[in-house]
Amino acid sequence: MGAGSECRTLTMTGHVGFDSLPDQLVNKSVQNGFAFNILCVGETGIGKSTLMDTLFNTTFDSKPSSHNLPKVRLEAQTYELQESNVRLKLTIVDTVGYGDQVNKEDSFQSIVQYIEQQFEAYLQEELKIKRSLNVYHDTRVHCCLYFICPTGHGLKAIDLVCMKQLESKVNIIPIIAKADNISKAELSKFKQRIMSELKANGVRIYQFPTTDETCAETNSTMNSILPFAVVGSNEFVKVGNKNVRGRQYPWGVVQVENESHCDFMKLKEMLIQTNMEDLREKTHTVHFEVYRKLRLEQMGFLDVDANNKPISYQETFEQKRSLHQAELTRREVEVREAFVARVKVKEQELKEVEMELHMKFESLKKLHAEERRRVEDGKKKLEEDRSEFLRLKTLYTQILNDKQMSHHSSSSGLHTLTLGKSKKK
Ligand code: GTP
Ligand code: MG
Repeated sequence: MGAGSECRTLTMTGHVGFDSLPDQLVNKSVQNGFAFNILCVGETGIGKSTLMDTLFNTTFDSKPSSHNLPKVRLEAQTYELQESNVRLKLTIVDTVGYGDQVNKEDSFQSIVQYIEQQFEAYLQEELKIKRSLNVYHDTRVHCCLYFICPTGHGLKAIDLVCMKQLESKVNIIPIIAKADNISKAELSKFKQRIMSELKANGVRIYQFPTTDETCAETNSTMNSILPFAVVGSNEFVKVGNKNVRGRQYPWGVVQVENESHCDFMKLKEMLIQTNMEDLREKTHTVHFEVYRKLRLEQMGFLDVDANNKPISYQETFEQKRSLHQAELTRREVEVREAFVARVKVKEQELKEVEMELHMKFESLKKLHAEERRRVEDGKKKLEEDRSEFLRLKTLYTQILNDKQMSHHSSSSGLHTLTLGKSKKK
């Protein structure tokens, strides 16, 4: 019986036990633990860190950022949290320096880059022969909380540009930050304006799912009150006989968890209690899928060939491999030819230098021979002068001796006279 042929329905006479599959699934998931990654996009000091502390009822280690960064930087911090027997690996990604640059056109670039880097890391793990996805720390961003300034007017250009760039890569939940800065009447108009601006610019934001009947009603109500107007606080204020998270003002207390004061509880419920799994799933099945398709196509993998006929992964791989081999051979030939040409040029250069040196040597040799000849001539001349001098010296000595001999033989008076004469001189 081939796949796709009709499937018969059978009834069993007794209990088999596969109805425990959902429990097995839950047990396995609980054992592995969960990862959830939140990206906070918002201007410096808009209340990102405070809201995260408020949401998870803890104090994450965050430092206020400086306002003078030349570029938006993303900082990720991972924490292990446990509630009952459920372990959650929570990563909070902060946009440091967002909106602080004079030119805000490229503010979204670092954010897009970060999101894609996490997709790429997951894809690389998926493509490995020996992959370990069940222990892999999935860092893909499951939810982007976009913090809107409580101006009461509408969205800024940077908000629209950034959300438009992110909409196809991540689940965006826009929130109005520091909502205690807006009056109740202003708030509903502000919300309407934000939603109509998003719609007018074709920015798609995350919609809480209405397919699961257990939460369809709540989710559709929540979809209609987006964006949530939230207040965060790290302080506890005494209200009645209870200590509540809130912000104390001279005229009263804003209670974070009071639904008539702000939408914080709605955000908490929607993000953490009801739709965390949907956010994780949409990230994988919608956003990552788009990225994966694009990257595989870039790598040359297609489901159909040029004639729109289905093509197997292996066929594409073989084709790619032969193309790659051909390209490699072509490059090898090119490199070899270039190498030979360079060697030839070098050889010619060396020959020229050798010739030059040879010529220089020859002329030096000639000069040296001439110099030697000159020195030898001089030496010969000197020898001749010397022998002439010696000859003359001998002759002169002989004459002198002869003269003295002739004087001795003559009288001594005459001798005195000669001496006297020479003294006079
Ligand atoms: P950077 O990390 O420096 O970009 O700032 P941030 O966005 O993390 O802001 P942070 O949470 O550090 O808050 C900045 C200031 O805003 C602090 O003084 C907070 O007390 C205050 N703040 C935070 N949330 C709220 C809020 O909901 N309402 C009001 N009025 N102030 C808030
Ligand atoms: Mg911060």
